[in-house]
Amino acid sequence: MPKKLAKYTTDGNVIFLSKEKDINKKLSDIIGDKFIKYREKWDKVNNFDLVTDFPLFLHLDLFQVCNYKCPHCNISDFELLNKAYKGKISEKMDFDKYKKIVDEGSEHNCPSIEPQGVNEPLLVKNFEDYCLYAHKKGFIDIMINSNASALNERRAKKLLDSGLTRLRFSLDAFSPETYKKVRVGSLPLKKVVSQIEKFLELKEKGNYKLPVTGVSMCVLKQNQHEVEDFQKFWIDKVDMVTFQSFQPPNAKKDYSNFYPDESIIKKKKNKIKSFKCPQPFQRVVIRNDLITACCNTFSSELTLGKLEDGIYNAWNGKLAKKLRYIHENGMYDLNPTCKICVETTAT
Ligand SMILES: C[S@@+](CC[C@H](N)C(=O)[O-])C[C@H]1O[C@@H](n2cnc3c(N)ncnc32)[C@H](O)[C@@H]1O
Ligand code: SF4
Ligand code: SF4
Repeated sequence: MPKKLAKYTTDGNVIFLSKEKDINKKLSDIIGDKFIKYREKWDKVNNFDLVTDFPLFLHLDLFQVCNYKCPHCNISDFELLNKAYKGKISEKMDFDKYKKIVDEGSEHNCPSIEPQGVNEPLLVKNFEDYCLYAHKKGFIDIMINSNASALNERRAKKLLDSGLTRLRFSLDAFSPETYKKVRVGSLPLKKVVSQIEKFLELKEKGNYKLPVTGVSMCVLKQNQHEVEDFQKFWIDKVDMVTFQSFQPPNAKKDYSNFYPDESIIKKKKNKIKSFKCPQPFQRVVIRNDLITACCNTFSSELTLGKLEDGIYNAWNGKLAKKLRYIHENGMYDLNPTCKICVETTAT
């Protein structure tokens, strides 16, 4: 009898399927008590039962460059991105600046970091050094998504030794034809799959428990017919297969052609009214020199502070507190950026 798959979601937007067990339970078994304690805090924060004095999660863009142009991704909309990032797209964060961010996080025992935003992280040649630095500084949950195009054997080995805890390869397709359509400018699917399989082989041969590794599909009208084949092909090979709901990158553009018609992941319109955003309670998102409140493309409109003034000060500043107050009390519409975000995307 085939084993039942664990199926769960943490935010309603990403559905995880896993053969063994919930990925956080798996990570708790591997990393131990400190991971369990961090996840307990994380759950409380997400339930609005706890406000920490420093974010539990640092999310940062090293730059905003990608070698692909997936039409559903905001990186394909140059104008949008340029406006959102105030003309500073592709300005790479240097290692010293990154170190300062990690050092401050480390001083406050911050447990988790994602040094990847709207970009392809492996295009940063020494990306693994960024992960390793966070690992050495005590971060226990280090995660990224990658399109796996730059994943050769050398990079795979370096990644395995980098302290990374979660790694998701985004494929968005099962067939080469669909892959070409949804991952515009990509390498052939066959090549990318073989690179991922090589990574998995090295991981197994080297007895690496980490990173827990998955593949993901952002479910779109263009690929919805491949959901089942995708799951079947990957479920025995990786720790998790994830399906992500499509979030329109630009509220002013018509993305109706991208929504899957079947509600594989359904937009819960009736939930919009009571929506409370957990992001201002979980994280800061650092883009260029700004500390912002969330991963919304226009998060610079929710700037909590400048990097030079420190994360602690931004997190405990006026706007951060106000944002937490309005979300805790179900009043997202008091903030114009949140209003647009919630009513067009964040459900
Ligand atoms: C923005 S990418 C950055 C990392 C890397 N380049 C990759 O593709 O994995 C991170 C994830 O967001 C997903 N994504 C892109 N556009 C999206 C959208 N409009 N709605 C939901 N997810 C999206 C991608 O499929 C990918 O899994
Ligand atoms: S590979 Fe990732 S960052 Fe690049 S365009 Fe596609 S989804 Fe966006
Ligand atoms: S803009 Fe969206 S993601 Fe950001 S805090 Fe507001 S509701 Fe949350």
